[in-house]
Order: sequence, then structure tokens, then C-alpha cells
Amino acid sequence: MGKIILTGDRPTGRLHLGHFVGSLRRRVELQNSGLFDKIFIMIADAQALTDNADNPEKIRQNIIEVALDYLACGIDPSKSTIFIQSQVAELCELAFYYMNLVTVSRLQRNPTVKTEIQMRNFETSIPVGFFTYPISQASDITAFRATTVPAGEDQQPMIEQAREIARRFNGIYGDTLVEPEILLPDNAACMRLPGTDGKAKMSKSLGNCIYLSDSSEEVRKRVMSMYTDPDHIRVEDPGKIEGNTVFTYLDAFCQPEHFAKYWPDYSSLDELKAHYQRGGLGDVKVKKFLYAILEELLTPIRERRKEWEKDIPAVFDILKKGSEAARAVAANTLADVRSAMRINYFDDAELIAEQSRKFQG
Ligand code: TRP
Repeated sequence: MGKIILTGDRPTGRLHLGHFVGSLRRRVELQNSGLFDKIFIMIADAQALTDNADNPEKIRQNIIEVALDYLACGIDPSKSTIFIQSQVAELCELAFYYMNLVTVSRLQRNPTVKTEIQMRNFETSIPVGFFTYPISQASDITAFRATTVPAGEDQQPMIEQAREIARRFNGIYGDTLVEPEILLPDNAACMRLPGTDGKAKMSKSLGNCIYLSDSSEEVRKRVMSMYTDPDHIRVEDPGKIEGNTVFTYLDAFCQPEHFAKYWPDYSSLDELKAHYQRGGLGDVKVKKFLYAILEELLTPIRERRKEWEKDIPAVFDILKKGSEAARAVAANTLADVRSAMRINYFDDAELIAEQSRKFQG
């Protein structure tokens, strides 16, 4: 059996560099690697509604933003199926059956959900849909018989729950579902890119993001105001690279060839770091280097986005066709699930014969 990818994002805003290093970049590589038979990329609007029920307009507006970001990064609709979660009703039915295989205490132990509950001040009143979204996510993954879920480390508990659900289902009803595996980013700095202010994560509400669709000028401003080493006051002072956002970003984005192109005084990141630590290297120079690297990355993305922005109906058409194709696949899995659970009554000649005998005595 072939290898299948399912992954996705909640459409709560435009995508930023954190998404890029955490997942988008990898997805495009995987798409173009030819190692996967099918790739499904889902815009998880239904999941986004689990904590945005009072603001559906936000989700509605951001579907197209996320789709544009995908296309801009090089997700190719002829190779990957991009679809909208809510348009695949089969996912809800699967989740409804999976709910019987998961306990409340198991959901309460999910560390990602725990953190999210705190972040959203949901402690005293958690929406049930939000609480159970790991189950819905297990449906997303298993509906497509995904073997591989490329995602950030925060998604690890979700994949673990999906695996448990698949295992439990298969144990009770017979081998039906595929147990997925997470595919984590391969570069340590990419696991979680901090915000430009040095805070743990990029987040719209903190205003510390660099968006893929930001203009050159916006990127320049963000880089130039990035958090560095607060004790590195004069150029000659020794600087710290640990917790220094500019260096964390360089770890994530800098390639050896960037030195020849933009800063031939150095030949490697290690050499640059050593100089900074020794003292005698100012932040502004390092920031300019980072800005050049980010611009090289973001310029083609920005340009491709501009092209797609000229034909929004075409983007919606891609989503519509993708959703139809996704629905057919999910319906197929759902039919197998129903048959494994033996709730496919009308296709079950054996049931009808058996019941006839029973009542005829
Ligand atoms: N939980 C993911 C996020 O917050 C989005 C998502 C929903 C997802 N269903 C998924 C990711 C299935 C991978 C697989 O970004």
C-alpha cells in the first residue's frame, strides 16, 4: 500500500514564517519528492470554528488567505488535493463513531488541548466541540488513510490520539483504519520559530509575526526591530546567540551559499556566531544579512501570490474540485467503517436472511 499525506491548517489568519518552517516548506518538498501517492491538504475551517463559534466571519475571510498562501509557497493543485474540511460531511460521521472509543479523561490529558484551554481562558467553560477536536482530527487523518502527517511538535499528541483511535477501532471491529505517523520538521530551529520579539511563538495577537504576504518594507521593519541579546550594547561587547532571535532565524533559514552571495566576510554560520560571541560584531549587520536571506525566500512567494490574487474565482474552483475529490475518498473510508461496524444494514444480505429466519421460527 502506498504512502499518503494528510495535513492542514486552521484558517484563522494569513500564514507566517512559523508555518513556513514548521510545515509549508516541508510539504512542498514532500509534494515534489514523488515519494507519496496522494497528498491532501486541508483547510480546517470546522476545527477553527470550535473556538471561534461567535466569529465565523473570521474563518470565512481567511479561507482564501490560506489557500493563496499555499499556492504561493508552491503547493501545486495538480499534485496535491487542497480542500475545505466543512465540505466533507463524512468527517463528522466518522468522528461521531470515534467518540465512543475515547474517554473524557484521555482527552483531558492531551497536553496540546490543555495548553490551548489555558490560552483561551476556557477553564470554566470549555465548548464540547473544542474539547473533542482531537477526535475530529483523528477523522481527518484516518478518512484519507493517511500514513504520514507532516506537522509541528505541538501536533504530536493529536497524532498519538489518532493512532490510539485507529488501533482501538481495528481491535474491536477488525482491521480497517491506518495508523498514521507524524513527520516532524528535520531542523531543530524549525520545530518552533519564535516571534520577532523573542517570545516562544509567532502569534497574531502578539504582533510578532512575519507573514508570507508581508511587503519587503514590512519584513525589513520586523527584522530591524527583532529581539537580540539585551546585554549586547556596544559593538565590541561579546554577544549571546542563545535566545537571540536573529540567530535562531539564521539557524532556520541560512544556507552556506548565502555567505558568498550576501556576506563574503564569513564562510559559515559557525564563523559568524563565533565573531558575535567574541564581540566586535553589531546587531544591525547581522539583521541586514538575515533580511537579505528572507527577501530571497519571500520575493518569489509574494510574486506567485500576486498572480493568484488576480484570479480569485480560479482559487475557489481549485478548492471546490479538491473538496469534491476529498469527499469521494472520505466516503469510501466511511463505507468501510460502516461495514466493519456492521451498521451497513441495507447492504447486509446476511443480516436480512438471519432476521427472516429468526422471525419465521
Ligand atoms: N490542528 C491543526 C492546526 O491547528 C489543523 C488540523 C486539523 C490538522 N486537522 C488536521 C493537521 C489533521 C494535521 C492533520 O494547525
